[in-house]
Parts: sequence; structure tokens; C-alpha cells
Amino acid sequence: MILKPMVRNNICTNAHPRGCEVETRRQIDYILARKPRYAGLPERPTAVLVIGCSTGYGLASRIGATFGFGVPTLGVSYEKAPSATKTGTPGWYNNRSFEAAARKAGIPAKTIDGDAYSKEIKAETIKAAKELGLSFDLVVYSLASPVRTDPATGVMYQSTVKPIGEAYSGRTVNAFTGHLGEASLEPATEAEVAATVKVMGGEDWELWIAALAEAGLLAKGVKTLAYSYVGPALSWPIYRDGTIGRAKAHLEATAPNLNSRFASLGLKAYVSINKALVTRSSAVIPIIPLYISTLFKVMKERGTHEDCSAQIDRLFRDRLYAGKNGGVPVDAEGRIRLDDLEMLQGVQAEIEARMAHITQENLGRLADVDSFRVDFLRAHGFEVPTVNYEAEIDPDYDPLSS
Ligand SMILES: NC(=O)c1ccc[n+]([C@@H]2O[C@H](COP(=O)([O-])OP(=O)(O)OC[C@H]3O[C@@H](n4cnc5c(N)ncnc54)[C@H](O)[C@@H]3O)[C@@H](O)[C@H]2O)c1
Repeated sequence: MILKPMVRNNICTNAHPRGCEVETRRQIDYILARKPRYAGLPERPTAVLVIGCSTGYGLASRIGATFGFGVPTLGVSYEKAPSATKTGTPGWYNNRSFEAAARKAGIPAKTIDGDAYSKEIKAETIKAAKELGLSFDLVVYSLASPVRTDPATGVMYQSTVKPIGEAYSGRTVNAFTGHLGEASLEPATEAEVAATVKVMGGEDWELWIAALAEAGLLAKGVKTLAYSYVGPALSWPIYRDGTIGRAKAHLEATAPNLNSRFASLGLKAYVSINKALVTRSSAVIPIIPLYISTLFKVMKERGTHEDCSAQIDRLFRDRLYAGKNGGVPVDAEGRIRLDDLEMLQGVQAEIEARMAHITQENLGRLADVDSFRVDFLRAHGFEVPTVNYEAEIDPDYDPLSS
């Protein structure tokens, strides 16, 4: 069939298998081009677990570990294979493409698909690690999920993106029509705040580390990483000071708890504050598409724009394994800052000035809405250069067996 993106209410409900494959390959090639620089690092991991491995920052982390360091990985994600009526999810094709490339390179990689929050998937991951004889010295926690069922109680929690305390309204842009508009959100209830912390906070990160430690699968001196975002003050009412920010504060507070709870293993837990990038969920958050479009324009003009692969490449080579002064460079709160280029004062001042003056007429000059739209579609395998979207494609196309 001929596959075109099916976008409704800023959500894309299908994926292009070949586009996902080419896009995954592009990320692999980016890291392979930098492989010689990994060889010279004073430290390196030997076996890596990536929880949330199929898209975004998790996929980039797995690609960095596999093709930068050449080490075996286990990956966990929640993706859907294609069915008679639907394409697979982007992450399903990405995983298959990644595994095909890892297999070709002779680097062990196994992916477990299922609910990472559940006891069953943790047990399955532990079993697979034992079968492969892996003892992890890096565990990356990169889940982004709208729901979580608490394994202890069976209660399902739903995360929301809402302000806390008062309603928020701000300007936003529809990346698909290019129209500027206003969006408002009512404040979250206390139950919504608590539920978002349950889903996106650090509780499950700690459960994973505890399960792996109990199974004896963490190497001495293991590092574990979770990802977070801070962003500029103009996004705080909806992000940092909102429901998601509350969950991120919990995630960030989990790192020192892990360090003391697993001190006998010499475990080091880090939260890395990454750059804002377009993902499947960022299109639906008010202000964020307008902010990211302006950010991209300013960073591209300065030649400092990065994607997930570039961020993770810098995380591994300049932060986690750089051995700088015998440690990992962190901010006053113990966090790794990969958002340093985004948060540069000059960049933020320029964004603020532009956002204050953006009109429908000057939007194309001050912001890069098209990049937002293209990156969003590319995360679903569309708008990938070199892919012929007029050609027939079988949604069952499996990069691993092709
Ligand atoms: N995208 C950004 O701008 C940005 C910036 C800074 C930090 N972060 C953080 O990085 C992390 C990853 O975000 P992303 O943007 O790469 O997200 P993403 O949506 O691209 O990836 C999420 C991953 O989680 C997996 N997943 C979701 N629910 C699951 C479940 N129940 N069981 C197993 N796997 C599940 C998905 O399969 C996927 O692999 C998040 O913590 C996010 O807050 C993102």
C-alpha cells in the first residue's frame, strides 16, 4: 500500500516502516562516524540496559552504547507490531532496524516488548540478562508514558500535562497548519498531580534498580541515568511548575536515594537534563511547539542545534565517560546538563525577544515551525529524505528479516 501520515489533533496514528528504518540507520551512521573518539575514552561501559529503548532519547542511548562502545544491550519498550488493519508503531520498526544493524555488526542485542512498569517484564528482562550472561554497568531509564499500573496495587494512574494552582493560557502554534493561536488549560486537581508523579516520577526507576540488584545483575560501580527537562521560565507554568515538573522533581530526588540505598554496590545515579526536542507528545503541549520552533531557528542560526543522537553522543563522550577530574561534570544540584547550549543566556534572550514579537506575518522569519512539523513526522518515518513515499510498502515489512 501507499502510506501517508494520518495526523489528527496533532497525533500521528501510523508509521512508515522504511522511513523508520532509514531514520534509525541515519542515527547509527552518526555514531559510527564518531566511533574512533569513543575508543580513546578513559572509561567505558561493558553491558547496557535501556528501559524505553525504541524512540527518542532511549533509542539514541542504545545506539550510542552499541555502535559507539560496541557493547551488548538489552532494551525494553512497549511497541505494537503491524496488524491486518494498522501499521506497527514507529518504535517497533526502529527496534527491528536497530537489531538488524546490531546483528550485522555482531554485537549482541535483545529487545523485550511489554509493560516496563510490570513485575512480569522486569522478571523477563532479568531472565534474558542471565541467559546472555550480562551484568549491567549502565542502566538508562528513558520511559515517557501516559499511564502506569502500580504493580503493587493494580491501580492504573494517568499522567496529565497541566498547570498547578491556576489556569494557564498562552500562545501556541499548530505545527500542521502554521496558525498561531491561544491555548488554555485548567489547573490540575491534587489527584492528577499525584497520578502524574506515580507515572513519570522515580518510583519505577527505583523498582528496576532494586530488582536488578536483587538478581545480582548490577556490576560494581554501575551507573544509572534518567532523563529530565528544565527549560526556560516562560514554559514553567505548564512544565516545570506543572504536573510533569512535579513528577520530574520526584525523579530527580530519586537519584540521591538510589546512591545511598545501593552504596554497597558503588552505584552512581544521575539525572541528565536534556535539550527540548520534538517527540510524539510535544506537539500537544501548549506553548511548547512555539518555543521549540523558535529555539530551533535560533540554534540553527548559531550552528548549535542538536538532535537526540548528538545529545547522547555528547552525554557519553563529554560527561559520563570523559573521566574529567575523576568524575562526571554536574551542576550544583548534582545533575548532568546537556541543555547547556539551549539555556545559554544569549540564546534564551533571543528566543524571549522573538516570542514577544511573533505575529502570523513574521512567524516564518522568527521561528522554524516547518522543522517542528518535519521532525514530528520523521519520528513516525515520514518526511525522511531518500524514502520514496509514492512507492508501495507492505506495513508488515520487517527490517530484521529483510
Ligand atoms: N523529548 C524531549 O524534549 C525531552 C527533553 C528532556 C528530557 N526528556 C525525557 O527523556 C525521556 C524519554 O523521552 P522521549 O522524548 O525520548 O520519549 P519517547 O516517547 O520518544 O520514548 C519513550 C519510550 O518509552 C517506552 N515506553 C513507554 N511506556 C512504556 C511502558 N509502559 N513499558 C515499556 N516501555 C514504555 C516507549 O516504547 C519508548 O521507547 C523522558 O523522561 C522525557 O521526559 C525528553
